[in-house]
Amino acid sequence: MYRSRALFAQGSATAHDMARGARRRNARHGLTGYLHIEGTTIVQYLEGPVAPLARLFGNIARDPLHTDLSLLANGILPGRRFSGWAMAFSGGGPVSFAATRADQDDWDIDRASVDALLDFMLLCVPGLPADDPAPTGFHPRRTSDRPRSRP
Ligand SMILES: Cc1cc2nc3c(=O)[nH]c(=O)nc-3n(C[C@H](O)[C@H](O)[C@H](O)COP(=O)(O)O)c2cc1C
Repeated sequence: MYRSRALFAQGSATAHDMARGARRRNARHGLTGYLHIEGTTIVQYLEGPVAPLARLFGNIARDPLHTDLSLLANGILPGRRFSGWAMAFSGGGPVSFAATRADQDDWDIDRASVDALLDFMLLCVPGLPADDPAPTGFHPRRTSDRPRSRP
């Protein structure tokens, strides 16, 4: 998971094109995750096989669409959290970290802990539209993380 600062407008065509492209490529490489944009703050959680994930993170770190990237957490997980989401995306709609934490101390997305950000993502993901599901068989509510067998 990392946090960065967007150099494009929240809810803009650039943001949506980026999310669509990310979904298409992630589906190809078996990567899943969640991308949230709130104001100029970007938080992205990525999971999947190490090699494509490391390659993608290198691309993202060099991407001129954002700046001030800081890695918040990185490691090996026993399983996926966003299985079935080639990239869940909330970036300009009504979904707000600050709003969901209004009654708590850690409402500031720029200071929030990894756990708080993950809780937020897991809370939001069932309600997100599965915009452009990738053709390779990623479905928004698939719970199994096993690779699909081909006939
Ligand atoms: C905030 C942000 C998040 C991104 N997330 C992804 C992603 O999840 N998957 C992806 O393939 N590209 C993502 N990109 C785009 C990559 O930076 C890069 O453009 C993409 O991997 C294409 O690289 P290529 O032209 O070398 O194939 C993201 C870019 C930004 C700015």
